Amino acid sequence: MGFTLDQVVPWGRSYEEYLAMFALTEADMHKRILGCGDGPASFNAELTMRGGKVISVDPLYLFSAEDIKSRIDATFDIVMEQTGKNYNDFTWKHIKDLDELKRVRTSAMNTFLKDFHSKKENYIAGELPALPFEDNEFDLALCSHLLLLYSELLSLEFHIQSMIELCRVAAEVRIFPLLELNRQKSRHIEAVISYLEGNGMLCRTEIVPYEFQKGGFEMLRCMRQ
Ligand SMILES: C[S@@+](CC[C@H](N)C(=O)[O-])C[C@H]1O[C@@H](n2cnc3c(N)ncnc32)[C@H](O)[C@@H]1O
Repeated sequence: MGFTLDQVVPWGRSYEEYLAMFALTEADMHKRILGCGDGPASFNAELTMRGGKVISVDPLYLFSAEDIKSRIDATFDIVMEQTGKNYNDFTWKHIKDLDELKRVRTSAMNTFLKDFHSKKENYIAGELPALPFEDNEFDLALCSHLLLLYSELLSLEFHIQSMIELCRVAAEVRIFPLLELNRQKSRHIEAVISYLEGNGMLCRTEIVPYEFQKGGFEMLRCMRQ
């Protein structure tokens, strides 16, 4: 796979952030959910604890909990420092300040590490654009802070192949955010939507009750018609 841990900066969001980023409803919680690129987020652990069914897929899961923890420890302060330097690129309304950000992220990643250690079956090592799942294995696929955000690094072709793959394994796909790292709208989004709509998918962008990266308050929802 050629994926090495020193290329990765593990950074995981909380369950509450997932609920808001993807505008998840009570009905969504009863769906078979795929979290694609979940990394060290605590969504899987906390939804499973509440009786939900969720599988996370990420190349990070090739590594042991101990190795992932060491990499989190090695990179955490650097990410916090960079966030501090770019303070004005973020809205501090849901997360009030850097101290709260530190608490939220530390707690999410610790929750993930415990769960990853004890419930290995919920965490599958794999990566877009080819996922190790059957057609229609999930009702809903969520992908946070990977597709669209990294449009500068990931080509349009990769995005289209990845969306086709997510739509193969799930009846509905939601992507958040629609912005790139520099807060400009993803350079690929129009072409991705146009391709999917031309191939029978229904796509729409929606405002969600979450904003941390300034201007990042929309998700893309794609469904089979
Ligand atoms: C910025 S993190 C986001 C983690 C989590 N979704 C969140 O929002 O807290 C991006 C994640 O995407 C994973 N990733 C990178 N390339 C991937 C691929 N081709 N397929 C699936 N996941 C990938 C990384 O390992 C990392 O965990």
